[in-house]
Amino acid sequence: MPLQFTPLHPLFAAEASGFDLAKPLSTEQIREIDEGMNKYAVLVFRNQPLDQDQQIDFAKSFGPLDLGLRKLKRNPHRFRHEELIDISNVNPDGQVAARDHAKVVGNIANQLWHSDSSFQRPRAKYSMLQAITLTSWGGETEFADLRAAYDALPEHLRRDAEGRSAEHYALHSRVMLGDDQYTEEQRNSIPPVEWPLVETHAGSGRKLLYVGIHCRRVPGMTLAEGRMLIMDLIEHATQTQFVYRHQWRVGDLVIWDNRATLHRGRRFDVTERRELRRTTTEDIDTAAQLAA
Ligand code: OGA
Ligand code: MN
Repeated sequence: MPLQFTPLHPLFAAEASGFDLAKPLSTEQIREIDEGMNKYAVLVFRNQPLDQDQQIDFAKSFGPLDLGLRKLKRNPHRFRHEELIDISNVNPDGQVAARDHAKVVGNIANQLWHSDSSFQRPRAKYSMLQAITLTSWGGETEFADLRAAYDALPEHLRRDAEGRSAEHYALHSRVMLGDDQYTEEQRNSIPPVEWPLVETHAGSGRKLLYVGIHCRRVPGMTLAEGRMLIMDLIEHATQTQFVYRHQWRVGDLVIWDNRATLHRGRRFDVTERRELRRTTTEDIDTAAQLAA
């Protein structure tokens, strides 16, 4: 049976059904998911609880896996795989982390509009997030369509963005939130990278606006003007008409294209347990193009 799509928003995002993601995917099934991703950029699979090995195997069908900030801080890990990213407020010992624990800063940093690992090369392509334990309120995840945002750019913003790049830096948002206890070596271990502000999405051929909270300056502009431009572009891109809000249910697996969307988590009570598990693939195609 082919994969079926039910749109969740007028511009992007769809619920996808018909595949059992716990089983190895055929080449044809991978192609159908890729095709859906190219069109919708966010796919929601309901009721697909995957164990740790199954989520890793599923993710690897779409490319090599990214470690994100674990490259920097190899803290004790709860999972069987280094590439399974622990999106939770739970300590390695299984208890909910104290609210001043670094893990909670990570949760809060995820509440800023971002694209996963945009601060590195290769950057992230797909992220797959599975809901394990949810809070009594809040904790939704919102997605913004950067292609629709580009299409609707007002002329003056388009002129400022076109032909320019932004510098993305891994610790920019962390430092902003007061998480600044990094050694010189850690600060330098993920050097900043530049990405054009306007890009063409490899999956759909549509232009898009590539911004997010990891952007810390716009080369060729003063720091003040560059930061203001980034803030204006993020504000534009995340207006409600471009946003799909995902209300989680346990067993949901949501896949998004980090090249074409921004996302953020929403507020929740950090003393309540919230656990999701993420896998992320590397955007090796763009990295290869740049190296050529
Ligand atoms: C992520 C992320 C947001 C959330 O997993 O990359 O940003 O709602 N999550 O937990
Ligand atoms: Mn994220």
